[in-house]
Amino acid sequence: MEDYVLEAKGITKRFPLAGVIALSNISFHVKKGEILGLIGENGAGKSTLLKILNGVYTYGNYEGELFHEGRPVRFRSSHDAMKQGLGYVPQEINVMEDLTVAENVFVGHLNEDSRKKSFRMGELNRRAQRFLSEHHFALDPAQVVNTMSIGQKQLLMVAKAISWNPSILVLDEPTTALSQADVENLFAIVRQLKSKGTSVIFVTHKLEEIFELTDRVTILRDGKVINTYGRDQYDRDRIICDMVGREITNLYPERHVAIGEEILKVEHLTVLDPRIQNRNIVEDVSFTLRRGECLGFVGLVGAGRTETISALFGCYRDYSAKVAINGQPVEIRSEADAIAHGINILTEDRKMNGLLLLNNIRFNVVMSNLKKIMNSNGLLSRTKEDEESNKYMRKLHIKAPSNTMMVANLSGGNQQKVVMAKALHSDPRILLLDEPTKGIDVGSKQEIYEIINELLGEGISIIMISSELPELIGMCDRFIVLSHGKLVAEIDKEEATQETLMSACFM
Ligand SMILES: Nc1ncnc2c1ncn2[C@@H]1O[C@H](COP(=O)(O)OP(=O)(O)OP(=O)(O)O)[C@@H](O)[C@H]1O
Ligand SMILES: [Mg+2]
Repeated sequence: MEDYVLEAKGITKRFPLAGVIALSNISFHVKKGEILGLIGENGAGKSTLLKILNGVYTYGNYEGELFHEGRPVRFRSSHDAMKQGLGYVPQEINVMEDLTVAENVFVGHLNEDSRKKSFRMGELNRRAQRFLSEHHFALDPAQVVNTMSIGQKQLLMVAKAISWNPSILVLDEPTTALSQADVENLFAIVRQLKSKGTSVIFVTHKLEEIFELTDRVTILRDGKVINTYGRDQYDRDRIICDMVGREITNLYPERHVAIGEEILKVEHLTVLDPRIQNRNIVEDVSFTLRRGECLGFVGLVGAGRTETISALFGCYRDYSAKVAINGQPVEIRSEADAIAHGINILTEDRKMNGLLLLNNIRFNVVMSNLKKIMNSNGLLSRTKEDEESNKYMRKLHIKAPSNTMMVANLSGGNQQKVVMAKALHSDPRILLLDEPTKGIDVGSKQEIYEIINELLGEGISIIMISSELPELIGMCDRFIVLSHGKLVAEIDKEEATQETLMSACFM
């Protein structure tokens, strides 16, 4: 079929060592100039499929056949696939931190087309600027990448892929780390590509994005294609049911928890910017948290939400605040201090500070509280390690053959669940959740909400950050709104709507 840019026939992918069949007999196609959505539960096989389409898993390491513009293709590497017109932005961010935006975009090209020429920085920046503005990327070519937000890095990866002029661009959950403005920027870029005839495969867990952007959607479950729908057949409930194999009627389960006494009181929290002198990233923020309460932090990217809870967790040296737990003043100068006071955190960036990727699930879960798995003789008990880690694997539906699976080999969403398990194993009294359902499928989201409710019921207090307002509104008892590092509003559950919260962000 000439008008298929890409066609996959009978793709099967096994990981024999782990005893996993990630994909079984997958066939699908992408038409010229269309945006195809690809969705499915955590571990359904989306990323594995994309890695095959983009030469990460090379021919011989999978069964089945790929056709690009009607011709069979067998990529030898991801570079090979890229040169043949398959642009790919993987799920995990992978950029060269110490180089500039321009260098990151063009580093591969320099090898290709300028072996003889020596490139000057100025010229490179001008070339990058031209390219970035042509595609409407809000990025500065001269900026060093390690000073950029995760969202900007994500856009940079997209820019890099587009710089090869792909006939098909494959995006694996590109929006998980993006602010609303960055998402709009990305969607505009994708639509512009489409208008020029480029095809796009777009993976997401956010159904709204499927409805907004895509022309067709293919649903995977347990490594198989379950259904494909055209835009005119889109039906939310049907798609969810295809994805998770059951209906989801009440995403935010009801909670009947009596909120108790004040557990935490934070006064005049100010955090100095570790990078820029004489600038505060959080300024004079005061709030309280009660027993069994879920407090939502609302704000745009850069509002200081993550910085506020990181300070509470002892991540900053230069900060000042009066903190009291159960009415007692406490000093939190390190993460160990925080944990000793019953505070634990689930971080936004699991790769940077959440997980030991080359260790197995068991170790990652239990390391947050070794006391809990010690025998009376002070030695670690393998039986307890197994009991604890298996308990969370069951509770959170972590998809893996056993608790000895290396975390690096888990799907993105399942890695996120391990971060959650690790935080829960530490038995916190105060739990700080930064984007807890990032990259998590709807079925598992509901399960995580149920667990949050259980924790609140046990008297644990929670602070939750989420870029998804419906999630915050569905889960939180009270909201504080941050803007440019300052607390600008406190809003009760009864008054909280998307509109009131959003407009408070712009105060
Ligand atoms: N290198 C590997 N070794 C062993 N198993 C693997 C490896 N990579 C992936 N898997 C397994 O293959 C299955 C599919 O994983 P994949 O990453 O494709 O899921 P996904 O649909 O992208 O999920 P998510 O939404 O969580 O990103 C999972 O069970 C995963 O654990
Ligand atoms: Mg994935």
